[in-house]
Amino acid sequence: MSAAALHVRGLTAGYGPVTALRDVSLDVPEGACVAVLGGNGAGKSTLLRALSRTLAFHGGAARAGTVTFAGRPLHGLPPDRIVVAGLCHVPEGRQVFARMTVEDNLRAGALTAARSGRAAALARVHELFPVLADRARQRAGLLSGGEQQMLAVGRALMASPRLLLLDEPSLGLAPLMAARIADTVREINAQGTSVLLVEQNAALALRLASHAYVLEVGEVAAEGPAAELAASDEVRRRYLGVVDEQAAADSAPARVPHLARWEDA
Ligand SMILES: Nc1ncnc2c1ncn2[C@@H]1O[C@H](COP(=O)(O)OP(=O)(O)O)[C@@H](O)[C@H]1O
Ligand SMILES: [Mg+2]
Repeated sequence: MSAAALHVRGLTAGYGPVTALRDVSLDVPEGACVAVLGGNGAGKSTLLRALSRTLAFHGGAARAGTVTFAGRPLHGLPPDRIVVAGLCHVPEGRQVFARMTVEDNLRAGALTAARSGRAAALARVHELFPVLADRARQRAGLLSGGEQQMLAVGRALMASPRLLLLDEPSLGLAPLMAARIADTVREINAQGTSVLLVEQNAALALRLASHAYVLEVGEVAAEGPAAELAASDEVRRRYLGVVDEQAAADSAPARVPHLARWEDA
């Protein structure tokens, strides 16, 4: 087992009567970029919330399963201890503090970090995202969507995470901006930070990740090396928008795709 690997086993979570994740197991080896793909409502955000222990803020809870990071169990810890343990979650929809300045948003990300590491973390963020240095005194709400995404990622990096949990960083961005964000995710990963990347944009995610999981209605429907998933007909048709007329005819709406078909692919 590598030093800072994440291991999730049998994770089941939901909101009141709704079960949003069922028996999910996955691994993020130390230093890896792993993607979780899936359509709207597949349970991707619930997975990240369960890992960062923020499900309760959304009226949810984890019901079963274990999560270990660097050999240490995380289930049961409060969200601030998860950050101290090295996991930082960049939530869906950025969630920057719109009325606060860019600088203060970044400072807020460093609250749980050791004081000694803050200057280096800020320098790294400014190097990755020079615009955040240029706009330091502007209100975050005045930034463009792409810049707000940079700020959300930068804020998470201020805690010097060992594993970054990214929830749909490309959502709502123009293709050029999504590509820029993708480049920085690659750079962050190359600098040694592990990444668990949740995306509906499968093409983008499969370019960044070495390994990927596909979630469907809360369960892992497929997994494998990113290159293999990118080559799978099923993934290409369902997630990469590649139209194969025969396959489309084969899966009339009444047919429920079966797991075995994934493995055949
Ligand atoms: N705060 C919530 N309260 C109740 N149900 C929720 C809440 N958030 C998500 N869900 C439900 O949980 C399931 C998974 O949602 P989610 O994890 O947000 O999926 P994804 O991020 O893949 O779009 C969906 O059925 C969704 O409607
Ligand atoms: Mg989501």
